[in-house]
Amino acid sequence: MTESFVKRDSFLPFSKPTIRQIEIDEVVDSLRSGWITTGPKADRFEKDFASYTGFPIALALSSATAGLHIGLLALGLRPGGEVITTSMTWASTVNMIEAVGGTPVFVDIHPETCQIDERQIEAAITPKTAGIMPVHYAGAPSDMDPILEVARKHGLWVFEDAAHGVGTLYKGRHVGGFGRLGVFSFHPIKNMTTAEGGILTLRDEELARKLRALRFHGLEKSAWNRYAEGGSPQVEVMMPGFKYNFMDIQAAIGIHQLASVGDFNAKRRYLASLYDKALSDIPEIMKPEAPKYDHFHTWHLYVVKLLDSARMSRDTFIAELRARNVGTGIHFRAVHTQPYYAQKYPQWIGKLPRSEWVSERLFSLPLFPMMTEEDVLYVAMAIKDVLSHARG
Ligand SMILES: Cc1ncc(COP(=O)(O)O)c(C=O)c1O
Repeated sequence: MTESFVKRDSFLPFSKPTIRQIEIDEVVDSLRSGWITTGPKADRFEKDFASYTGFPIALALSSATAGLHIGLLALGLRPGGEVITTSMTWASTVNMIEAVGGTPVFVDIHPETCQIDERQIEAAITPKTAGIMPVHYAGAPSDMDPILEVARKHGLWVFEDAAHGVGTLYKGRHVGGFGRLGVFSFHPIKNMTTAEGGILTLRDEELARKLRALRFHGLEKSAWNRYAEGGSPQVEVMMPGFKYNFMDIQAAIGIHQLASVGDFNAKRRYLASLYDKALSDIPEIMKPEAPKYDHFHTWHLYVVKLLDSARMSRDTFIAELRARNVGTGIHFRAVHTQPYYAQKYPQWIGKLPRSEWVSERLFSLPLFPMMTEEDVLYVAMAIKDVLSHARG
């Protein structure tokens, strides 16, 4: 560390959920009420989310991964079916394709935005292609118009991974509702949280019926109230479903998080604009670019790339930042390079050069609503300090 750099005392994590007294009180209210699993608050949360996004149906679940799993099953993905997606995502997008016996087919990304390259999708279609899964990366939308056009032309479904996208708009409309299904995540690092949790969004009541059953043991009739006054203890299993329901304790957090997500996102946008300025004079750092098409960015992540001119590996660089009390994340290592996928599908290695280039160089800077302007400036100073050592 240079003499002019003063290391802060406390560690600045890369993310931290905003949990206030209102969420704590609501959870306590659920605990005291005796109704802690799926119940009236989960019901209300689904209605609130549907009205926030503008989609008629929202089905809350234990995680977005659970939503990806049953979503793919409900869309009819079966062994042998191919799904076109991006390698620049959290593994669960691809894991769930694989878990139901499908085959992931990757197309490359736009390196500036890390969004799926929509221009490559049509060439990846084969007679086995079942659908397309774009990932709205880091709080910005993928370019949905060309994706929907190619899907319509070839009779494919679109399932949007909107895990990062609560509040994200594409051409004025909320993501998660362009295709047949969308899924959002409420994991603690996301723009709003329910501790763990996720939600599927859709318009099709028939598909929703199947998803409700798959979410809860294969029961077609709503069964959460079977032990309540007026409920019936009799249930019928119509298919081998899962146990992916959303608890009232989660909803207790989510109801208040959702009510504030607009403010959380506004703060994220402000912090991202501060980063843009604070990092503008660092040539070794490539800042994230926003897509050129009309959109509303919610800055789930602020992902930078360390260019080769830094003459330091990304992993050494983030260790140096950690030594200066700055936490970082990696979103993401390209999924096709993960050991399971590299072994099973070695043909992708080297075929997605932009995803691989980005994967080796990217890292996410601290970004969460409770951060201050001073925190952003400190991160920029810490980056400059690490680089000044590398420059010698
Ligand atoms: C792009 C993407 N898809 C899916 C998921 C899975 O979300 P969850 O942790 O709620 O299962 C994540 C979580 O980090 C993600 O980043």
